[in-house]
Amino acid sequence: MHLKDKVALVTGAAQGIGNAFARALLEKGCKVALVDQNVERGKASKDAFDKQFEAQRTIFISCDVSSEEKLKDAFKKAFEHFGKLDIVVNNAGVNNEKNWEITVQVNLISVIRGTYIGLEHMKTQNGHNGGVIVNVASLAGLMPVAFQPVYCASKHGVIGFTRSIAMASEAANYGVRINTICPAFVNTPILQSIDKEENMGQYVAYIDKIKDMMEVYGVLEPTLIAKGLIQILEDDSLNGQVMKITTKRGIHFHEYNTAPIETGNSNL
Ligand SMILES: NC(=O)c1ccc[n+]([C@@H]2O[C@H](COP(=O)([O-])OP(=O)(O)OC[C@H]3O[C@@H](n4cnc5c(N)ncnc54)[C@H](O)[C@@H]3O)[C@@H](O)[C@H]2O)c1
Repeated sequence: MHLKDKVALVTGAAQGIGNAFARALLEKGCKVALVDQNVERGKASKDAFDKQFEAQRTIFISCDVSSEEKLKDAFKKAFEHFGKLDIVVNNAGVNNEKNWEITVQVNLISVIRGTYIGLEHMKTQNGHNGGVIVNVASLAGLMPVAFQPVYCASKHGVIGFTRSIAMASEAANYGVRINTICPAFVNTPILQSIDKEENMGQYVAYIDKIKDMMEVYGVLEPTLIAKGLIQILEDDSLNGQVMKITTKRGIHFHEYNTAPIETGNSNL
């Protein structure tokens, strides 16, 4: 996809990785709907972008993505404001092992919903021009994480859903590519949640082990994750791919065996 003048909707755009995504999209000439529940930070982000880019290229939309009604409304507002939608980045996420249902709600259910609403606004069958959806997962979606079991489950869900809906989109000729990004640790405010009991619940006792993991894996900067996003958007050959971003190997893709279950095996 050629990015100039494309319209993107980014959830969780008020800070962290989502904010870096919005900046990278603006630098490429896109218009961006910044969707976030944090109104203060969201407005401050828009103000900061307005100093560097034309004000009409961004809109801040206050929205809790866990509300179906509000999420639908946010898409409607973005679509009506800019007149079309080409890119959706379902990025908003939380780390909460104590009130773990919210982690499933925001990290998985809202990503699924954002994908379906995005498809309605972009698929060719509805008279649109197609587009690209990127769902933000994590390396925690590809391996077990002892002290974040629900976060881990939510991110595994994002990867399974994204790979599957990408195949469905291709089969139905929606004209929409759907991929996922899995970063290792990234230097954003979410990392401050790992030593808080209100986020970690019973696992707060293992804070030292999590910090050890950070030492081993290293911590990336959000700009590198944004570089990965731009690569996915610009490369029209990518659909159903799982992009991993790590300190050791940078941006690369997860390779899967064609089928984990051998067909014809009578035991399965
Ligand atoms: N930082 C990391 O180490 C890391 C690593 C891998 C994946 N991720 C994923 O990247 C994504 C972005 O995380 P981040 O590191 O930038 O975190 P962050 O906490 O800095 O930013 C998350 C943003 O999402 C918004 N948000 C949270 N819940 C919301 C809701 N219900 N409705 C609307 N907005 C909501 C927050 O207000 C915030 O602006 C998340 O999905 C996260 O799981 C982060």
